[in-house]
Formats: sequence, C-alpha cells, structure tokens
Amino acid sequence: MEKELLFSRSDIQKRVKELGEQLSSDYAGKDPLFVGVLNGVVFFFADLMREISIPVKIDFMRAASYGSRMTSSGEIQITKDVEKPIRDRHVVLVEDIVDTGNTLAFVLKQMNEKDPASLKVCALMDKVERRQEEVTIDYAGFTIDSGFVVGYGLDYNEEYRNLPEIYVLKP
Ligand code: IMP
Repeated sequence: MEKELLFSRSDIQKRVKELGEQLSSDYAGKDPLFVGVLNGVVFFFADLMREISIPVKIDFMRAASYGSRMTSSGEIQITKDVEKPIRDRHVVLVEDIVDTGNTLAFVLKQMNEKDPASLKVCALMDKVERRQEEVTIDYAGFTIDSGFVVGYGLDYNEEYRNLPEIYVLKP
C-alpha cells in the first residue's frame, strides 16, 4: 500500500521531548505510575520515558478489540491487566492512538475501578473525526483529523510498526 510521510523522526523526537518535560513538571513529587497500553505504544512509551526527568514506575496492559482494525468494532477485552497496585497511585495511561475512543473509554473505566489517586491520559496521536466516546486526552502528541496512520509502533494488519517515522496510508 502507498504511504505518505506525516511526521519525521525529528518531528516525533521534538514533540516527545516536550511531552516528557510537561509530564516531568506536572508529576514532580507524585511518584507517578505510567501504564502503557500494548502493543502499538512500545516505541512511543520507550522514548517518552527517557524524556522524563523525575522518578517514575512503569507497567503495561493490553486491550484487544475485535473486528477490522480500520473500522474499530467496539467489542473490547483486557487481555493483559496491570500487575502493580493502582490504588492511591497517580496513574498516567499511555496510548498509541485514540480514534473512536471506545478502547480508551473501556480502559479508563477498568482503571478507575481500581481507585487511583488520579488518572490521566497521554496519547501519541489524537484522531478526532470518528470520535464516539467523550474522552479527555490530557497530553496529546499529535492531533489529526482523519486518515489511517502507521509507523512508530502503529500498524496496519501488524505491518509497518518498525518504521521510525509516522506515515498516512493511501487507500
Ligand atoms: P479506538 O477504540 O477506535 O479509539 O481505537 C483505538 C485503537 O485502534 C488503537 O489503539 C489502534 O490499535 C487502532 N487504530 C485506530 N486508528 C488507527 C490508525 O490510524 N493507525 C493504526 N492503528 C489505529
């Protein structure tokens, strides 16, 4: 499939550094727990953590949604939960991309039931056009209107994840 460059390595690096600085300042003294939502988040998560200058702890969870990836179905399941205790912790959920918002809304609900001291969201990409659930993205890397993006962890049928840049697929 044809693809077009959307964000270069340096665009990403610059933005991730800014997010890291913002989070470091907002969470100073709070011993935050950063929870990455697998799999797409791994590259962003690894880079973001290295731009954070305060002590942090990390954990991961995985949410699987069924149906076609390009249309996002709505049937969601937690296939791997966090392992660290969440109660009374300042938690930052780190996502690759928020599209309809269904996955995030589901994950937020599950997380909130564990009684964190606070719960915020950081997403690499905020894709707004197809949003169905009203979710607040407290820290957004890049906001796009529409399009299917790949690279830097984002896939199309498990392809393209390893590309260092972010591309938009041309149908
Ligand atoms: P949502 O539940 O519709 O917000 O979809 C979230 C999930 O759909 C993401 O975690 C991705 O796995 C996938 N997704 C949505 N849009 C894209 C895209 O443009 N590129 C790659 N994956 C996407």
